[in-house]
This record gives sequence, C-alpha cells and structure tokens, in this order.
Amino acid sequence: VTDENVMPLYFERVTESLKGAGFQIFSHCIPAGEPSKCVDQLIALWEKMSLGQITRTDAVVALGGGVVGDLAGFAAATILRGIDFIQIPTTLLAQVDSSVGGKTAVDLSVGKNLVGAFWQPKAVLIDPRTLETLPNGTFRDGMAEVIKYGCIWDGIFLKYLSEHAKRSEIMEAIELVLYTCCDIKRHLVETDEHDAGLRKLLNFGHTLGHAYELAGQYKIWTHGQAVAAGMCMETRLGIQLGQTPPDALEPIEHLCASFGLPTSIPCSLEDYATAIGHDKKSSGLNITAVFLDHLGKAKLHDMPKSDYLLAVSKLISGKERKGKKSKS
Ligand code: NAD
Ligand code: GLY
Repeated sequence: VTDENVMPLYFERVTESLKGAGFQIFSHCIPAGEPSKCVDQLIALWEKMSLGQITRTDAVVALGGGVVGDLAGFAAATILRGIDFIQIPTTLLAQVDSSVGGKTAVDLSVGKNLVGAFWQPKAVLIDPRTLETLPNGTFRDGMAEVIKYGCIWDGIFLKYLSEHAKRSEIMEAIELVLYTCCDIKRHLVETDEHDAGLRKLLNFGHTLGHAYELAGQYKIWTHGQAVAAGMCMETRLGIQLGQTPPDALEPIEHLCASFGLPTSIPCSLEDYATAIGHDKKSSGLNITAVFLDHLGKAKLHDMPKSDYLLAVSKLISGKERKGKKSKS
C-alpha cells in the first residue's frame, strides 16, 4: 500500500526486491494526504485485499508516510481478523513516530484517529535516504515530532536540536536523530503499549493540535504544524495552571519557528471543545493533560475536561484582549 507521491519514487524498487525474494505482489495506491485516512479508503483497501484473495499467511506492506502507515496498518489489523504488516516509512514523521509502536487508525469527520487498533508491525524498515526527496514542508512536519521528543524526555537532545536548527544539519546527523527518537518511543511503548499511562506523554501537543487539524478539516494544517502549535499552546496552558515554569515557552517557540512551524493557530472555542471531548486521554469527565514539568521532562496531570476547557478559553480571551490593546 502506497500513495501517489511515493509510488513513482520507491514502489518499483520495493516490489522488485520482494518479487526477487519470491513474493507475489498486489498493490494499492491511495491519493496523498490526510483526507485519505478515512473510512471510504479503508473499505476500498479491504475490498482490494479480498478481491486479491488475501490469506492469513500474507502480509501488508505500508510504503509511505503516516497516512499510508495508519490506514494500511488498520486494514492489516482488521482484514481476516488481523494479518502481519511491515512498515517502510518514508517521511521523517513516520520514521520517528508513526511507524513505531503499533497505533493504527482512520479519521472520522468529527475527529482524528477515532477508529483504530493497536497492531504492532512485524518489522519497521527505515531508510533515511528516502528523506532526500521530501518537500521542505513535509520535512518540517516531521521536525514537530522530533522536537516533541526533546521536550518530553530529553533536554540534551532538545539543546542539540536548537543548536542544529536547519534541515541540512539535521540530515548530517540523521541516524542519531532517528535513533534517539525511536529509542525514546520504544521505551515508552514497551512500558505502556496500550496507552494507559506513560505512553500518553507522546501526546504532548496533540490534544490541542487535534483541534487545529479539525478546525481546518484536515486540509489547512498538517499534523506536524498542528502538533507544533499544540505544543506551544499546551505549554502556555501549563504555565497558566502553574504546572510548567514560564521560561519553558520561549525555547520551544523559537525552535518551532526556526523550522518554519507555527507557534499558534487560530481556532474557535467550539473546535477546542470538540477536540477535548474526543481526546483519547480522557476517562469519563476527566482528561489526562500532558504538561512540561520542565524542558526535557513531561508529566501527566488529571483534571476535569471542563477545567481544561475553561483554562483554554481564558488563554484565548487573554490573547484577544492583548491583541485589541496593541491595536488601540
Ligand atoms: P503523509 O503520510 O500525508 O505524508 C506527507 C506527504 O509526503 C504526502 O504527500 C506523501 O505523499 C509525501 N511523501 C511521503 N514520503 C515521501 C518521500 N520520501 N518523498 C517525497 N514525498 C513523500 O503525512 P505524515 O506527516 O508522514 O504523517 C501524518 C499522519 O501520521 C497523520 O495522520 C497522523 O495522525 C499520523 N501519526 C500517527 C502516529 C501513530 O503513532 N500511528 C504518530 C504520529 C502521527
Ligand atoms: N504518537 C503517539 C503514540 O504513538 O502513542
């Protein structure tokens, strides 16, 4: 399974290699972009697999970014009640995050990743050279998740990133960057595969990030952009609630901006409320918020969703007031 951008770049090389090893190939290509991570594409993929008479000894290979990986992974998790799958991630975001850890999903029109399964890939094959063909914007999106690992787990890595805040410099040390991120994720997933505790730290920036993706109907803001603005906003929130020291914000904003990532995105309170309502870190009326204890260490903080939303509304109305003051 691949998408229309990745197909001309890497499909032949991968399929020739598989054929050479004696495999029979059925392929499926989806339109590129987040709107393909949907139920309609999932049904088309299930039907293609069924028409190809897929069996339980076959495997799904996801060749592409996080969209292909999440969709193909969920199809693999569900077809015939689950068959093997292999991730070959070709974006920075997919190499450092989505291909590892076994979360698979599709989006619904009312929210991100609302239907999915934990389904571990049998293998993840990462070739950093595939990053050479990434457009700058897509590379930048992956940097949002790279920055996230530094924020939540590794202050030294975060400092390293701020001292090498250019694509060319990241590429010079790409194996170290990929390894550092995957190793942090490996540790968190091994400790908490099903997102009951520590793994939730990986969702730093995602609660509010999902509001931005939803606000743009998944077409205006990419996942990476939304996560970057979400990390900044959740840091502001942590500061407001006394959970995060005030000096944590500027370095994150500065680093995101250095890579061309947004540090804030306009969003209505309704979109925030919808995203908070759908957040998978919720239990009943409570949400487990992810805040920075300090740069390089995140913590989980349980609170009523209503308090979380109230704090967001105070933040945005404070910002509006400031904006009006500076205009007058
Ligand atoms: P994507 O899959 O849409 O890829 C971005 C763009 O890059 C697409 O246009 C794609 O065609 C193109 N592309 C891919 N590889 C390329 C290459 N080597 N050269 C040139 N172009 C290439 O987006 P993404 O940023 O990779 O992934 C975002 C998705 O990942 C979101 O849906 C997000 O929710 C999901 N995600 C999942 C997890 C998880 O744990 N499962 C974690 C983080 C993000
Ligand atoms: N990307 C968040 C997780 O895998 O848990």
